[in-house]
Amino acid sequence: MTLLEASEIRISRRAYIPELICQEKKASLQKIIDGLCERSGLNIRLMENGEECFGLIKSYGMFSGVKSYFALSGKADDPFLHEKVGYFGEELVLEATRLGLGTCWVAGSYDKSATALDLADGETLSCVISVGEIKERENLKEKVLSGIIKTKRKSPAQMSKNFDIAPDWFKKGMECVANAPSARNTQLIVFEYTPNGVISENTGTWTSNKVDHGIAQYHFELGSGQKITSY
Ligand SMILES: Cc1cc2nc3c(=O)[nH]c(=O)nc-3n(C[C@H](O)[C@H](O)[C@H](O)COP(=O)(O)O)c2cc1C
Repeated sequence: MTLLEASEIRISRRAYIPELICQEKKASLQKIIDGLCERSGLNIRLMENGEECFGLIKSYGMFSGVKSYFALSGKADDPFLHEKVGYFGEELVLEATRLGLGTCWVAGSYDKSATALDLADGETLSCVISVGEIKERENLKEKVLSGIIKTKRKSPAQMSKNFDIAPDWFKKGMECVANAPSARNTQLIVFEYTPNGVISENTGTWTSNKVDHGIAQYHFELGSGQKITSY
């Protein structure tokens, strides 16, 4: 499975088999994480105290069986910290999808203080991503939920400016953007085609919209094959 194919099948998963990820997949994830940290300058950790952060009340009953999650942090004074977290974190999400694991980006519905992360001076936690083997029995609920969300998704044209006059590669990029996860499925990132290049604009105001921006940029590059960021 390619990363592009992974982006087409990925949906957020919130029900997991309450077991740790097997050693083989953990080793693969660690290798991917090491590569991403080197490229991005971010600090990404695979954590295994998910029960403490994703309990019934702490996750508002939305998550079950979470044992593992990725914690994505970086330098608090980096003006593009959250965008970078979105960009490199989404590559990690798609790599995990390729390994057959379920994931869900989480900005709000977990207990941040229970992560007990040993953050360095000037380092801040941006977001976490739950990860694990999917619990099939509760899959149906997820699929129904995701089906409802998907029907509410914006089309590539609705997230673009100058879509009609744009070349095929731009349209392919936007198809991939339309599949991207976003906080509360708000899909607030707009891409404009101009003869001089592509401009992406974050029309949201929350910190998690900055993460959405990085995720959408990653999807655009994956679908279009064109580099638009300097990360
Ligand atoms: C930055 C970010 C933060 C999110 N935070 C949460 C969260 O706190 N709780 C949750 O259940 N889902 C969260 N989500 C998942 C979104 O609800 C989900 O991506 C969106 O509804 C689209 O559905 P899909 O991922 O299945 O395509 C978050 C997603 C993103 C990108």
